[in-house]
Amino acid sequence: MSAEVHGTQKFDATKRTQIVFSASAMALVQKLISNYPKGKEKSALIPVLHIAQAEFGGWLSPEVMDYVASVLQIKPVEVFEVASFYTMFHLKPVGKCVLEVCQTSSCWLNGAEDIVHYIEKKLGIKVGETTPDGMFTLKVAECLGSCGTAPMLQCGASYHENLTYTKVDQILEQYASEGRPRYYTDLDYTNTL
Ligand code: FES
Repeated sequence: MSAEVHGTQKFDATKRTQIVFSASAMALVQKLISNYPKGKEKSALIPVLHIAQAEFGGWLSPEVMDYVASVLQIKPVEVFEVASFYTMFHLKPVGKCVLEVCQTSSCWLNGAEDIVHYIEKKLGIKVGETTPDGMFTLKVAECLGSCGTAPMLQCGASYHENLTYTKVDQILEQYASEGRPRYYTDLDYTNTL
């Protein structure tokens, strides 16, 4: 599978035998780092983690986090602190599409629990589990900042809002046919940082 960057650059997001960024991914990493003064490379950590996650199988192993630390010239624990804080970073292997259903107040009041149960039944998995074909992982998350369009879920870089059972069906079908979600690395975010 390849992830498209800036519409033209591509890098391989399949399993790697070596933990080294591809040339195109490294070029993007260097561009991100160049946005900050020397010695402040850590400022690029979050987008670099998105690139690493897309490059190395959809999750951040300890080895990948160590590699990111070496690229940014910071301590491995500094990478772990950030990677373990944000729910969009996965520290264990996950399916190609990670469905994160918000379960905080607004979403909960508007039926998030029912949506979670519906997805569980539909996919035959519980929260925290991955479908046997490796396509979907189901998670719950705290407020994702889209309270006005509750209930909602995030998958990759996409928000799906005002969820209904019918909408969930469409979302699952869409991902099953496309094979993967939109990654943050599909977005041209180098110009916004
Ligand atoms: S409560 Fe669900 S997005 Fe804020």
